[in-house]
Amino acid sequence: MLEQINKLRKKGQNELNALNSTDQLPEWYYRYLGRKGDLTSLLKQLGTLSSEERPAMGKVINEVKQELQESFELRQKTLRETNLSQQLGIDDLDVTLPGRPCTTGHLHLTTQTLRRIYKIFQEMGFQVYEAPEVESDEFNFQLLNIPEYHPARDMWDTFWVNDEVVLRTHTSPGQIWAMREYYPEPIRVILPGKCYRFEQITPRSEHQFFQVEGLAIGKNIRLTDLIGVMSEFAHKMYGVERKVRFRGSYFPFTEPSIEIDMSCSCGEEDGTESSGCRLCKYTGWLEVAGAGMVHPAVLRNGGYDPEEWSGFAFGMGVERPALLKHNIDDIRYFYGNDLRFLQQF
Ligand code: PHE
Repeated sequence: MLEQINKLRKKGQNELNALNSTDQLPEWYYRYLGRKGDLTSLLKQLGTLSSEERPAMGKVINEVKQELQESFELRQKTLRETNLSQQLGIDDLDVTLPGRPCTTGHLHLTTQTLRRIYKIFQEMGFQVYEAPEVESDEFNFQLLNIPEYHPARDMWDTFWVNDEVVLRTHTSPGQIWAMREYYPEPIRVILPGKCYRFEQITPRSEHQFFQVEGLAIGKNIRLTDLIGVMSEFAHKMYGVERKVRFRGSYFPFTEPSIEIDMSCSCGEEDGTESSGCRLCKYTGWLEVAGAGMVHPAVLRNGGYDPEEWSGFAFGMGVERPALLKHNIDDIRYFYGNDLRFLQQF
């Protein structure tokens, strides 16, 4: 019987080593180690032996069984590995490589700037209010105290859709929308959005751009409130070291009207008044916003009695400050969709 076992062991090992594909493994297993396999039938024959021979023989059979089992597992592993590497050679596809990371985009510089502006005004209690981009002549001009044929219309080169419809030239018509919606409540909103002007496109001006309008309506709102809010904004947006300057101006929908400027960063190093640079056109000052106290006619058009109510409004650009902050020399990049530009911010 010992001879029989040894023969089986040798044969099993040889056949196992001769296998060259994982497909052939089950058949081999079934023949040698399976429930009806050769080793099992040898174990069954133990009963025919004498009780002295039986334990020693049983031990040998079990050892061979274990040995074949281990060899089987090893062979299985090697065959699987060669299988994989063969396949990789054929398909040129390495399934074990990590996947390519997907590139995620990020917010446009304009959106980033808008969100900084929202945050600062939000801290001062202003809500965001959205108004239409396509407006009527009435809202874009007339209700803002700019009658037809009034020379002030020349301040806004306009895209006309037809005789009555325009692409809004500024966010100011939103003032009327907000007042008519909120009357008779006090108001504190900012109105961000796209504006359009029929202008030649140059490095400094686009025919489309963003503005953020502000509107506060209440009882006893005064020019000093406007000055306080705009100073706070300029300091939070550009730094406390910046000086803010207010000068008289003209807008048909505010009275009095002012222009808000901020000292240019070129004057910062020595702490003195700016000597000027290219950005500020050698004046030392940068324009931040147009503003003023809401004109009584405009308050009335929004439904508020100017005898009882007062308010301030301001309007500022969004691309221009971003352009100044990052030293970008051409506003057209904002709408050019060139990733080499966009990815820098
Ligand atoms: N709408 C004006 C413009 O676009 C800016 C402005 C807004 C001025 C609100 C005063 C008050 O030029």
